Amino acid sequence: MAGVELFSHPALHTRYRAGLCSAAALALLLIAVLTYVPPLLVAYRSHGFWLKQSAYREQPTVRFRYELLFVATTGPGPGSFLAWSTFPAFNRLQEDRLRVPLLSTREEDKNQDGKMDQLHFKLELPLQPTEHVVGVQLILIFSYQLYRMSTFVMQSMAFLQFFSPVPGSQLYANGDLKLNQRQLLNHCGLDTRYNVSVVNGTSPFASDYDLKNIIAAYRDRNVTTVFSDSNPIWMTGRGANTPFIVNATIRYPVEVILYQPGFWETIKFAWIQYVSILLIFLWVFGRIKMFVFQNQVFATTPVSPVLPLSPVLSYKQHQP
Ligand SMILES: *[C@@H]1O[C@H](CO)[C@@H](O)[C@H](O)[C@H]1NC(C)=O
Ligand SMILES: *[C@@H]1O[C@H](CO)[C@@H](O)[C@H](O)[C@H]1NC(C)=O
Ligand SMILES: *[C@@H]1O[C@H](CO)[C@@H](O)[C@H](O)[C@H]1NC(C)=O
Repeated sequence: MAGVELFSHPALHTRYRAGLCSAAALALLLIAVLTYVPPLLVAYRSHGFWLKQSAYREQPTVRFRYELLFVATTGPGPGSFLAWSTFPAFNRLQEDRLRVPLLSTREEDKNQDGKMDQLHFKLELPLQPTEHVVGVQLILIFSYQLYRMSTFVMQSMAFLQFFSPVPGSQLYANGDLKLNQRQLLNHCGLDTRYNVSVVNGTSPFASDYDLKNIIAAYRDRNVTTVFSDSNPIWMTGRGANTPFIVNATIRYPVEVILYQPGFWETIKFAWIQYVSILLIFLWVFGRIKMFVFQNQVFATTPVSPVLPLSPVLSYKQHQP
């Protein structure tokens, strides 16, 4: 009896033998190819086989750096503004337009999880009775860190701007410091690309403090934060000797962070997809294989059922 055992199935109680180059062996090979290759094509062609991006949620570790730049517009003219910042070089450039405000800030950890949840910021700008504020531009600088996947450290800002035709007494803003991603973060490692100051406080040049240039350089970054309050509240009717007040609440919400999955995560998802489709093919082609051999579609030598001997019987047979 030539050949090797090609197929057996517990339900059939028969073994089928044939030569390695027989039609049955070729059919078996073809069935194997049809079982294992198409699931790969199906998984691949149905998109999302290789995981390109993934997401997770994390509340960032945000701290106000006690750095800010403030410009209050007092009229329509080009030089009618008052300004102050925490950068001495900027303040030196302002000369008589420099006006030091009174600041109070408080960061609050509302749920006691060790991460700050919001910043209460209040700025009181003393004004002469003849001065009026018609616009506010404010940059607050934060240190912003993510730890769950890659360690991402950056200095970022909240920019608040409001103009009104009516002189104001107070500007009230309340919003989120939202993460804005133009690029996926890494899944591991340390990323300090943007751990650079938003405002170059050591520069003596006025152009480095031009809001237009600061915003342009900041927006060039692939990862930024934006302050989301699109509708701050402008209050009018300031008393003659009262300061102009900026009152802002800046929240640090939990963010959905998009990242580039690592090698093993990519392989895992590809494997899960492949195997789940493969199971269906294994079942279907298992049936086909059984049919082909049971019905002798290709010539094979069926070997009659070898009934398992009971241990007692086999023991007795070996007795001398
Ligand atoms: C980020 O920058 C700050 C200030 O320049 C520095 O103190 C800190 O060590 C830097 N962090 C990392 C991880 O490089
Ligand atoms: C800040 O400005 C100074 C002077 O122009 C320059 O030498 C320095 O490289 C700048 N720093 C950054 C971080 O751009
Ligand atoms: C920003 O993202 C673009 C496109 O994803 C990339 O080509 C560029 O290198 C990134 N810039 C930095 C500084 O990482």
